[in-house]
Amino acid sequence: MSNLNSTDERGSWGSRVGFLLAAAGSAIGLGNVWKFPYLCGEYGGAVFIFTYIAILVLVGFTIMLTELILGRHSHQGPVGAYRAIKKRWSWVGIIGILASYLILTYYSVIGGWIIKYIVSAFTGNFNTTDIDALGNIFTTFIGKPFEPLIYHAIFITLTLGIVMGGIQGGIEKASKMMMPALFIILFVVVIRAVTLPGASAGLEYMLKPDWSKFGIKVIIAALVQVFFSLSLGMGVIITYGSYLDKNEKLTTSSVQIPLMDSAAALLSAFAVLPAVFALGYNPSAGPGLLFITLPGVFAKMPMGSLFGSMFFIFVLFAALSSSISLLEAAVTYCVDEHGWKRKNATIVLAAVAFLIGVPSSLANGPLFSEITFINGMNFFDSISFLAENLLLPLSAFMLSIFVGWVWGTDKALKEATNNGTVKFGLAGMWAFSIKYLAPIGIGFILIQNIIALF
Ligand code: PHE
Ligand code: NA
Repeated sequence: MSNLNSTDERGSWGSRVGFLLAAAGSAIGLGNVWKFPYLCGEYGGAVFIFTYIAILVLVGFTIMLTELILGRHSHQGPVGAYRAIKKRWSWVGIIGILASYLILTYYSVIGGWIIKYIVSAFTGNFNTTDIDALGNIFTTFIGKPFEPLIYHAIFITLTLGIVMGGIQGGIEKASKMMMPALFIILFVVVIRAVTLPGASAGLEYMLKPDWSKFGIKVIIAALVQVFFSLSLGMGVIITYGSYLDKNEKLTTSSVQIPLMDSAAALLSAFAVLPAVFALGYNPSAGPGLLFITLPGVFAKMPMGSLFGSMFFIFVLFAALSSSISLLEAAVTYCVDEHGWKRKNATIVLAAVAFLIGVPSSLANGPLFSEITFINGMNFFDSISFLAENLLLPLSAFMLSIFVGWVWGTDKALKEATNNGTVKFGLAGMWAFSIKYLAPIGIGFILIQNIIALF
């Protein structure tokens, strides 16, 4: 079936596996490989990991299931999904789409860094374990005005190309190849990293919690990361759910996707942090952590530049299967709500995302890093704060109020199970979480983030 003919601008998943791979593809991305390890390093290692897992269990699964339910119920993107139940709520869908679209603008910048590192690995530039030299290579690169922009352009163009292929042809096929390969190579890298001399301090850092590092900042970072990593609160999972057909058991998917996502995040952290300690680096070095430490690990591997280039290629695949979902949410919105042609929507939205990403890229360089926007943060940090710390919790908060209190948990559960039943008291736990735990927890974090603005 072709999704590109004009009478049928929507499409549907070719198979259950196709959906699962695409949804896991959306979830698994730079959030796991790039972000999770440096957040672990910034927020106390094991303390962050345990907090992350607790939030995942308490609200992550819940919101995942809820978004799938909402999408499949209406077979529409987030705006239509809310509208199908209560007209006045459709604006909530727009918040999520806006968040995912803003994330796309800087996600593509980081995706560009990944492409640069593929090139570097191939040209044999990873032959030193001198961490200061590796740090210099990285900061010099991201500080340049033009070169990172070229890679940013390449990344967004690749994203555009896949999304233009339509829901089955593009996304599904791409995800099928990308995911398993990433897991295998991550595994190889972890084994090398944890066997480096001196890596055991890193393992201890990640397994033995030092609760003196715990605090509200850790909770905020972990909650935001749970949403970011699972692609929640952005309309993305609602959109993917909308392409599911009615005999799909949503409860199963809502557990499988987070499990795969967490496995990828933990593997990545075990690839990066032991190396940080082994090579004598600072775990709280921030967003550069992956790019600075892993080349040092590859330098210590036989055939390191081969493994290095393969690693960054698979990370690129993972990043693309996420960025296509970020773009897809906005494209679906324009196609469903405003009757745009899929092709036009994709091109226009990708081009504008590129332009908004330009100042984010420049914010890493000496010329623009001092120019601040929200509360003393540069452009990159301001956009990510707006999207991840404000829009995303707001949309997840509204979602839980909507399904828990406005639509009602009984109707939602019927949709989840095709009028069937859920085992092990899971239905009750889900209902409790969506009515109380999620709105109170997320609302609390949202208020903290708003207060942080002043
Ligand atoms: N979940 C993706 C990641 O971890 C990022 C993403 C967020 C993708 C939101 C889609 C929607 O990298
Ligand atoms: Na993720």
